[in-house]
Amino acid sequence: MKKLITLVILATTLLTVTAVMAEEKEMDHAAKLAEMDGKAIFKNVCKSCHAEDADAGEYTPMTLIMEQWDEFFQDLYVDSHKEVACPKDETKMLTDVLTKDALKKVQKFCVDHAADSEQPMTCG
Ligand code: HEC
Repeated sequence: MKKLITLVILATTLLTVTAVMAEEKEMDHAAKLAEMDGKAIFKNVCKSCHAEDADAGEYTPMTLIMEQWDEFFQDLYVDSHKEVACPKDETKMLTDVLTKDALKKVQKFCVDHAADSEQPMTCG
């Protein structure tokens, strides 16, 4: 009987530790994104699917003009990305991982460095 109790306690502890670790990993990911600037988010997230020769098409800030980026973030993004999984964690959808704040930062980065901006830029 004692053995069984010990076993149950052990199993519960293990499960709790695993759950806590999983939660921390998740927070890490969101916290990391929250700390990144627009350029880093573009590099880490968008570029995973939009590098050179990508199936989804190559996109860098200077692929589009400012107006097109604003239009993209206002209308197109949700539609074209709603069924896209997060490249870092495929159990999550991209639109759930990227918060409004994070999106705003990427939008600013793209607009600031669009083809018709003062400093056109690829994301490096
Ligand atoms: C997991 C992959 C993935 C990630 C991450 C991703 N995209 Fe996309 N993107 C796609 C796919 C798929 C399409 C649709 C391509 C098509 O229809 O041919 C697309 C389309 C686009 C288009 C073309 C316009 C449109 O709406 O169809 C732009 C611009 C774009 N993405 C920018 C971005 C930006 C900026 C980010 C980062 C915030 C991003 N993408 C992140 C997969 C991704």
